[in-house]
Amino acid sequence: MASSPGSQLRGSRFLITGAKGFIGAWIVKNLVERGDRPVIFDVDTEAHRLRALLTIDQLGRVEFVRGDVTSYDDLDRGVADHGITHLIHLAALQVPACAADPLLGARINVLGTLNVFEIARRRRDLVKRIVYASSAAVFGPEEFYGAGTVREGAPLHPGTHYGVFKQCNEGNARVYHASHGISSVGLRAWAVYGVGRDQGITSGPTKAIKAAVVGRPYTIRFTGQIDLQYVDDCARTFLRCAEEDLSGARAYTLRGAVVRIDRFIQTLEQVCPPARGLIRAEGQHLPIAPDLDDSALVRDLGSVPRTPLDQGIRQTVEIFERLQRDGQLDTKDLDT
Ligand SMILES: NC(=O)c1ccc[n+]([C@@H]2O[C@H](COP(=O)([O-])OP(=O)(O)OC[C@H]3O[C@@H](n4cnc5c(N)ncnc54)[C@H](O)[C@@H]3O)[C@@H](O)[C@H]2O)c1
Repeated sequence: MASSPGSQLRGSRFLITGAKGFIGAWIVKNLVERGDRPVIFDVDTEAHRLRALLTIDQLGRVEFVRGDVTSYDDLDRGVADHGITHLIHLAALQVPACAADPLLGARINVLGTLNVFEIARRRRDLVKRIVYASSAAVFGPEEFYGAGTVREGAPLHPGTHYGVFKQCNEGNARVYHASHGISSVGLRAWAVYGVGRDQGITSGPTKAIKAAVVGRPYTIRFTGQIDLQYVDDCARTFLRCAEEDLSGARAYTLRGAVVRIDRFIQTLEQVCPPARGLIRAEGQHLPIAPDLDDSALVRDLGSVPRTPLDQGIRQTVEIFERLQRDGQLDTKDLDT
């Protein structure tokens, strides 16, 4: 993102829940690079993704608040103490964790999101914007919709607790707008890839890129078509939606490169020739329609960042190579 005076000069202050995670680290990177001093609210004590992306100097411009989104008081203090005007809510458990423990999944993914909205309602003089992570998992499998692109407004038919929780959050956002005039944007990502993606079912493509860089064989555990979205595009879209004047309760579908997994592997081999023969894929198709229309987002934002797949892979390779040269490349995730 082009450097500009931080938005704090314009009286804005961002708090990002779950920003020690993958997408959050890239949102923080974008904010810090343009001069902001964002507040990170996360239950984790570790910050390995942020350390991989930010310099020590840049990390010094980030405020860390350790807290749990299931605690109204923790989050409310984080918002009030730092004069937060823009809330970006990412903290969540992923698909496998929600499947393993749906009660905990609901506490974090649903009640945690309700806390965000309730704080925005009670502190409406302070909090002006909410953008939260929904997911393409609100959609059902390809067979449910038939062949071709799934149009905006198609019925939601999530097949996992995780997807149902995300759909529930979109519903609660709608009610907060209808009942209390709280506007929000929910963004439905599909499979986001890039440095820092080290967990969840769709982390396979990023792990394959890392394996290619270190020259190790790697098997992606699914096949079929997916929508690969470069993480910096995703981070910028969160920030655009936080800063545009979008009223109402909007839920936008994101779209990146819709490709078959074997096409992804071919592209990786072209960008990183040592990967030839190391990467393969096996297993089922993922149960989410991969070809989703994002025309509502394009209509409302005018344009959306869409890094071509080969460039996204190249940028990811370059960062992994730098981390490897600096002795900072963690490859433990390749074993999981
Ligand atoms: N990565 C993707 O491809 C993708 C796709 C669709 C939707 N999403 C959604 O985007 C958001 C961010 O995804 P990600 O890949 O960066 O996830 P991630 O798992 O890397 O990060 C999640 C972060 O939330 C934090 N967290 C978990 N429980 C918490 C709690 N109770 N209180 C405070 N913090 C807590 C974790 O410590 C972690 O830092 C999530 O809501 C996810 O469901 C991600």
